[in-house]
Amino acid sequence: MKEENLLPVYIRSFGAWIPERRVTNEELSRTVDTSDEWIRSHTGIGARHLAEDSQATSDLAVGAARSAVERAGMDMQDIDCIVVATATPDYVGFPATACVVQQALGLKKIPAFDVTAGCTGFIYALEIAMAFMKDSHMKNILVIGAEKLSSIVNWDDRDTAVLFGDGAGCAVISSEASSFQLEDRSSRKFTRPGIIDSVLYTDGTGYDSLTVPAGGSRNPIRGGMVKKEDVSLHMDGRRVYNFAVKAVSDIIKELAERNELSYDDIDWIVPHQANSRIIQAAAKRLKIPLDKFFMNIEDLANTSAASIPIALSEMQGKNLLRPGDVVLTVGFGAGLTYGGNLFTW
Ligand code: UT7
Repeated sequence: MKEENLLPVYIRSFGAWIPERRVTNEELSRTVDTSDEWIRSHTGIGARHLAEDSQATSDLAVGAARSAVERAGMDMQDIDCIVVATATPDYVGFPATACVVQQALGLKKIPAFDVTAGCTGFIYALEIAMAFMKDSHMKNILVIGAEKLSSIVNWDDRDTAVLFGDGAGCAVISSEASSFQLEDRSSRKFTRPGIIDSVLYTDGTGYDSLTVPAGGSRNPIRGGMVKKEDVSLHMDGRRVYNFAVKAVSDIIKELAERNELSYDDIDWIVPHQANSRIIQAAAKRLKIPLDKFFMNIEDLANTSAASIPIALSEMQGKNLLRPGDVVLTVGFGAGLTYGGNLFTW
């Protein structure tokens, strides 16, 4: 896509909210039949942060929203819309978690809605928000990925219990003029910040490889004993793994090719943090150096739709994103959904 065709929509800042309580593999192995060695060698995970029982997904989302708005140097009242990507909403069905976030942030008369696309939720939400902004008078939208996965994990199931964590990340996307000053990077393909492109896909043939079996309309809970297993996450890990390696590789390749970028032109690839082995395998397939991929799975585990905005927030906090940097996000998850965004910082 040529730069003159770029929409003047760009990401102004990222923020995150991570629960304080940190549970190491060692601690987990006291109650689950597993070990630090197995978890690290199979996933790259060393610890996860878990929310308190009294906290819901919206509480995490509110923390991330405040952090992003503060970093942008904006007033919360400048926000025109809230989109929350989550697989662990405060309530089943309604109200949307974004509505709870809206009232907590003291915002009135703005649209607020959820996007459900599993761990690819943030990638979907960013593209939806951008399209929404293009056809409206909105200037600033909060795009939040927030998850309390601990609320749907069966803590007796070692296949899944070791993999997930809680947290939230947020991007402020904006169509207002940017105060962005390009460093002397004039040789670069893109000379201003902007969301350049996204690809979004779903392979519904794999819808049953990652599910919470009960509680929805297919299998409602109507009195009687509710079994913990039925309202917990079930995953065919191997199937998702094989799908993920191909999905990550395909998305990176497609976004690069259709934007006429070599892998050298891309400064950062920010993948969904599900398993470091998936990222390593994709990097190897594409012959891209692993240090181009940002990873923070070691301390946070898989936070589903929150993992990419949390990673980007950490990168902004550590000044790893430089003006003009070309950043590619890539994710996959329940659905089976997959996709990626390409933006310049
Ligand atoms: O966010 C998107 C959704 N999720 C994912 O992206 C996850 C994708 N899948 C994966 O990351 C990997 O498939 C897992 C990490 C879930 C599993 O790794 P794996 O290398 O595919 O292991 P496996 O399922 O083939 O299991 C290998 C062995 C089994 O034992 P046997 O049958 O070989 O004796 C499992 O029972 O490891 C055993 N195992 C464990 N052992 C200790 C499974 N979980 C554990 C555990 N601790 N926590």
